Amino acid sequence: MTVGWVFLALSCLSLSAGLQRTNKYEGYKVYEVSGKARSVAFAETLSELVKNASYYEVFSEFNGGNPAKIMVHPQEQVNFVQLMDENNVQYDIINRNVGLTLSRQFETNRMLRQWFPYNGRLGTERYYNHEEINQFIEDLAREHPRRAFLKTVGRSYEGRWLKTITITNGDARRNKNVILVDGGFHAREWISPAAATYLINQLVYNLEDNADLLLDFDWVILPVVNPDGYEYTQLSEDTRLWRKTRKPSSSDCIGTDPNRNFDFHWNEEGASDDPCDITYAGAKAFSEPEALVVGDLIHSYVDRGQMYLTLHSYGSLILYPWGWTAAVPDTEEDLHEVAAAGQSAIQEATGTIYTIGPSTTTINYTASGASDDYAFNAGFPISFTMELPFGGKGFDPPASDIDSIVKETWVGIAAMARKVIQKYPLA
Ligand SMILES: *[C@@H]1O[C@H](CO)[C@@H](O)[C@H](O)[C@H]1NC(C)=O
Ligand SMILES: *[C@@H]1O[C@H](CO)[C@@H](O)[C@H](O)[C@H]1NC(C)=O
Ligand SMILES: [Zn+2]
Repeated sequence: MTVGWVFLALSCLSLSAGLQRTNKYEGYKVYEVSGKARSVAFAETLSELVKNASYYEVFSEFNGGNPAKIMVHPQEQVNFVQLMDENNVQYDIINRNVGLTLSRQFETNRMLRQWFPYNGRLGTERYYNHEEINQFIEDLAREHPRRAFLKTVGRSYEGRWLKTITITNGDARRNKNVILVDGGFHAREWISPAAATYLINQLVYNLEDNADLLLDFDWVILPVVNPDGYEYTQLSEDTRLWRKTRKPSSSDCIGTDPNRNFDFHWNEEGASDDPCDITYAGAKAFSEPEALVVGDLIHSYVDRGQMYLTLHSYGSLILYPWGWTAAVPDTEEDLHEVAAAGQSAIQEATGTIYTIGPSTTTINYTASGASDDYAFNAGFPISFTMELPFGGKGFDPPASDIDSIVKETWVGIAAMARKVIQKYPLA
């Protein structure tokens, strides 16, 4: 059975299944709102409007002149369209029924799990759950005892083990420089753990092509920072768009945005103190065990750490500090140079155009208490948030697009790592 045949069969099956099921996102639409003709007044109106979290959710921000993608509640369509028409703002509807997309994707994913069970390797045919990803890195460490080292670094609120894998070239040399990578901060961003596992595959199984990346550097990877949230998004269509952790807060609302929970300019601009918001900063800095684990990792590797990279989706962006303020660090040139290496390698490989720059000014998106600022402030000279590309009609790319996106992401990561190795050689 060829993969092509499988996908053909899947689309038929999922079509019929999808039409029968309804869910919470039935009738929600996703609009792509032009960034070009936008007046300052409209920008302000819009940024107020989307704070109404029961009716709006911003999937990706305006980025330079690029459009934003905004999901809108069925009962708010007329209002929203009217507002854009009044302001002469151009828009496209890129998804007419989010609920339908989600049920089709759920059915596809269910079938793919049966067709491609875990077999010791993680391919790019489908998305894997947290247990499979942990199993994979455990198996790797067992099979490559001189090259891959497993470490249990903490537990999620619901008790899932957080494990890192450290990948070396096996020469047993100690105290090399370190590149620290994590994925799966935000539960619904499934392409992020997929890109992290592809990175692991490359470093372990393709030593021949990547020997230079492991000569003086070790790589430490935590593929899923927020496993409780990640598993929750796999339960049903209704929970698919969950972003936060799963620890209850003082109010009726559950979860904290782990990427607003770091103890550096915690709970300032771009974070919310409302437990019901998707950017809730938490009751205090590092209230979430998952964020604390990443904070501890940052400190334990900072002496050797040259690059911290956190994988998110989506927006095709490589963002560097600061996220909490519009000011840029003194070393902006270095950050820019490394990001540009990733940007141009990706463009050359696939034509995908990434935007690079400081978070605050590039996408007008202030985010305080985030992990990239924390790592940079702790001493990592290079610290990036990489927002992977949008690749479909749902939140994440469909399974059929995983392969091309994770390969493209790898090209960018490898190019940035090579620049880092050149700029920050082992002392
Ligand atoms: C940037 O965001 C702020 C706050 O959301 C808003 O008031 C401002 O108009 C935005 N500026 C641009 C150029 O979009
Ligand atoms: C959110 O939008 C709905 C629909 O337009 C409106 O009825 C409601 O009052 C808004 N809530 C807030 C807090 O603005
Ligand atoms: Zn994210």
